[in-house]
Amino acid sequence: MRKPIIAGNWKMHKTVSEAVELCEALDRSVQDLDIEVVVCPPFTALSAVCALNMGKVKIGAQNVSIADAGAYTGEISPLMLVDTCCSYVIIGHSERRQHFGETDAVVNEKIHLALRHGLQPIVCIGESLDQRRAGKTEAVVVSQAKAAFADVAREQVPEIVIAYEPIWAIGTGETASAEDANQVIGTIRKTIAKIYDQEAADQIRIQYGGSVKPGNIQELMAQPEIDGALVGGASLDLKGFTAIVHYQKQQ
Ligand code: 13P
Repeated sequence: MRKPIIAGNWKMHKTVSEAVELCEALDRSVQDLDIEVVVCPPFTALSAVCALNMGKVKIGAQNVSIADAGAYTGEISPLMLVDTCCSYVIIGHSERRQHFGETDAVVNEKIHLALRHGLQPIVCIGESLDQRRAGKTEAVVVSQAKAAFADVAREQVPEIVIAYEPIWAIGTGETASAEDANQVIGTIRKTIAKIYDQEAADQIRIQYGGSVKPGNIQELMAQPEIDGALVGGASLDLKGFTAIVHYQKQQ
């Protein structure tokens, strides 16, 4: 049985005090939940939210460098993330692929580095609108998944979370239909089965991301292949994100 995981990607939002305020209240509200709740604040707020020693909410970073240390001005190493209290790190978000030139090869390198330091990668894959219109969705996600998992050992697969984020659904208010997201995620899971084996595919958790809101989370989570969500905009608001992580209460 895969444990659901809902993560908030705050992107480039929130000051230190805003981050602390949201995390304190969120942690209080999720104590009784039997799912994993993760927040990924900007780097500047990591130390402060870690100092809260939250009981339930786990912390992730939004990116990691390709090296342990060295002359990489402006970068943050996996050692530094572990030194705060990060247990997760988002890798290969479409915004990093698009605006910072991250290739599949870089994504794969970062996954290896994160795993070496005990950080659990949340690996983002997903097609653009043009690719979807051209009927290439499945080919794109299969190719991204294969590249991301290159040379990743079988025993490390359960450490990894995949986030299927169709680029056209990010920040647009457009969501893939729950059935559609379920189907693409099923294809991603089959790809993991082909690379490794069925057990690895059954173990790995795959989230959906792209305009997830309190109003659509329940339908998404009801799909058999969808194990969680990577939430952008709606994770910035305490009330909205609390409603999302408490999706089971809507039933
Ligand atoms: P939105 O939820 O704002 O569409 O963002 C999704 C996302 O990019 C999460 O990583």
